[in-house]
Amino acid sequence: TRTQVAVVGAGPAGLLLSHLLHRSGIDSVVVDIRGREEIATTIRAGILEAGSVRTLVDTGVSDRVITEGDRHDGVVFRFGGDNHRIDFQELVGESVWLYPQNDVFVDLAARREADQGDVRYGVADTAVDISGERPVVTFTEMDGRPARIEADLVVGADGSRSVCRKTFPEGARREWFREYPFAWFGFLAEAPPSHPELIYAHSDHGFALVSQRTPTVQRMYFQCAPGERPEEWDDDRVWAEMRRRVNGNGFEIREGPITGKMVLPFRSFVTAPMRHGRLLLAGDAAHTVPPTGAKGLNLALADVKVLHESITDFLAGAGDRALDSYTERALDRVWKAQHFSYWMTTMLHSVDGASDFDIERQRGELSLVTGSRHGAAYLAEAYTGWQPAR
Ligand code: DHB
Repeated sequence: TRTQVAVVGAGPAGLLLSHLLHRSGIDSVVVDIRGREEIATTIRAGILEAGSVRTLVDTGVSDRVITEGDRHDGVVFRFGGDNHRIDFQELVGESVWLYPQNDVFVDLAARREADQGDVRYGVADTAVDISGERPVVTFTEMDGRPARIEADLVVGADGSRSVCRKTFPEGARREWFREYPFAWFGFLAEAPPSHPELIYAHSDHGFALVSQRTPTVQRMYFQCAPGERPEEWDDDRVWAEMRRRVNGNGFEIREGPITGKMVLPFRSFVTAPMRHGRLLLAGDAAHTVPPTGAKGLNLALADVKVLHESITDFLAGAGDRALDSYTERALDRVWKAQHFSYWMTTMLHSVDGASDFDIERQRGELSLVTGSRHGAAYLAEAYTGWQPAR
């Protein structure tokens, strides 16, 4: 097969790119080693920036995010036993939407299917060869037949363990990396919402996040040790931990049966340049953020918007310069999101062995961010997503 753009990875980044290219009259083939059902049911984050929502709606992916998602005009920081709300609308005139990443995938997959897009789920042995004049993606089809796609460009949107990234020759890119001494324990609970908005709670017993999914299913997380094993946490133990970190001063989280438990890895990672020859990286393949602040998906979609423009220019004859500019344009937002995710993480989590000074300083920071209009506006602007100057 020949195509203009071969995309490795059919998550939201790969599918949005394929959709945007289609709208620009550019052919693509998308492959993923995961099955469609597997991607659709993998639980990921649930917060979309205002700009991500606009991209999905304005480019005709779906308006389900508006009709079925929940607009949140603010967020709550809870510390010292009290709730402190940050009002996004009042401060920056924006909102975020609670709309799970797996629904973003479902919408994109349905749109690509309706537009007769070539998306091959459940393939195996994906490999990229960029040594020749034109890049080639090889893989094994679901029915076992070997397949080969020759393209003008290959895009690696294949996640944090990216095969495409590993195809860059030795020395062709740099890496920046940071680890954290904790992880998140995430779970779903059959219960009504505990609060109309999300609660990021800082406590002496560690961080906890009260998020939501539907009127009857809630999503919550709490800070845990990196090696924590979900099977060692029965419902009683999970709720006792949540109560300890969140309840108090008349506030109680609503409890119910727990339906899914997992431990989420925690790291910051960036690689650049995001392009080598005819191979380009987007989303988690090029950068990972810790989950605090829910920037991962939003950043991937922002990459794809820029990448779509670079690819369109390149295929229209603008030359390599159009591809080079992708890294420069994408990285500005990548590092802002890296800083924001790192900052939210360090502001809210407890570190073993922190000094008394560090603990009090952290409270001072939370008080500054929630108690000052300028502090709160800084957070509101970052959380809802940096907009071009208006
Ligand atoms: C969710 C996840 C996050 O990392 C976050 O900061 C907010 C919400 C979620 O899954 O709902």
